[in-house]
Amino acid sequence: MTNRQHKIGSGFGAWSTAEEVLAGLDLTGRTALVTGGYSGLGLEITRALAGAGARVVVGARRPDAAGAALRDVPRAEVGPLDLMDQADVRRFSGDLLEKGRAIDVVIANAGVMACPETRVGPGWEAHFALHLGHHALVNHLRPVLAAGGARVVAVSSSGHFLSGMRWDDVHFRRGYDGWLAYAQAKTAAALFAVHLDRLGAAAGVHAYAVHPGSILTPLQRHVPLEEQVALGWITPDGTPPAGFKTPQQGAATATWAATSPLLDDHGGAYCQDCDVAEPATTDDMLVGGVKPWAVDPDEAARLWKLSGELTGVDAFS
Ligand SMILES: NC(=O)c1ccc[n+]([C@@H]2O[C@H](COP(=O)([O-])OP(=O)(O)OC[C@H]3O[C@@H](n4cnc5c(N)ncnc54)[C@H](OP(=O)(O)O)[C@@H]3O)[C@@H](O)[C@H]2O)c1
Repeated sequence: MTNRQHKIGSGFGAWSTAEEVLAGLDLTGRTALVTGGYSGLGLEITRALAGAGARVVVGARRPDAAGAALRDVPRAEVGPLDLMDQADVRRFSGDLLEKGRAIDVVIANAGVMACPETRVGPGWEAHFALHLGHHALVNHLRPVLAAGGARVVAVSSSGHFLSGMRWDDVHFRRGYDGWLAYAQAKTAAALFAVHLDRLGAAAGVHAYAVHPGSILTPLQRHVPLEEQVALGWITPDGTPPAGFKTPQQGAATATWAATSPLLDDHGGAYCQDCDVAEPATTDDMLVGGVKPWAVDPDEAARLWKLSGELTGVDAFS
């Protein structure tokens, strides 16, 4: 465990909202890219950044749905993007490179959770393929990441508690488990931030990983109702259970990590509740914290190398 995982005291907390985190900040003239920024947490992240004046590009695999969700959000624009399709990631990035506009913030937010076994591209497992999509996206976009100040925020999860990297079978070819596939992808998101920050710091690119908290969103759609009841996610009156956040609260840590000057010297950190997370002392995901395998620099370097080999893109090494 690196020594960067200690609270720094942001003045915000678990119940802060994205709007509160950005209050008083003027992001006019800044551009943010939010993958999946039209559903659940991504929608609230987009709303908050745009509300503070930023132009927000939303990468959407359902552009029509994104257009409808963002109709009333000023300065938000939608670009079709399927992160599980490397050719599509290249095309989407190429369009942004052609425009030549500097990108100040990338929020690698898109995710799927515990979906049925899905193979994409050359037989890649879908959760891991989404990590590879974000890896390729950020590497393709390196030429337009704002010089001297771009931030990349990888949306991870306390779901990483369930698995480190499965180096001998990252694509689950020897048997699929949707929860372990989600867990590995969320560990990968955290490790991605660790190594990107290491490689990008000299060029002013900093990266952070965040656990947003537990929030009821469309992410849970692959989890059967009985399982959600057993997990305590569903209450008889349909209200979120104790300890769950609203989507606006769930969007806060990513928004904070994208903008807070307090994090300038904490690149690579895994954050939760609008602060740097402490090392996990429990397996309770509602309590959170970060497990050692998600912030291990050697694991991060190994994942970066593998991701570069699989996608054929590495613009930072
Ligand atoms: N909700 C929670 O409690 C929680 C907890 C911890 C971490 N997280 C993380 O937070 C992030 C956002 O989740 P959420 O809860 O807001 O879920 P969500 O509402 O389902 O949003 C996920 C977004 O990712 C998009 N997406 C999925 N696959 C994609 C692909 N191949 N290419 C492009 N976009 C794709 C989805 O598009 P479609 O709408 O077309 O499916 C959707 O817009 C995820 O990374 C998730 O792991 C959430």
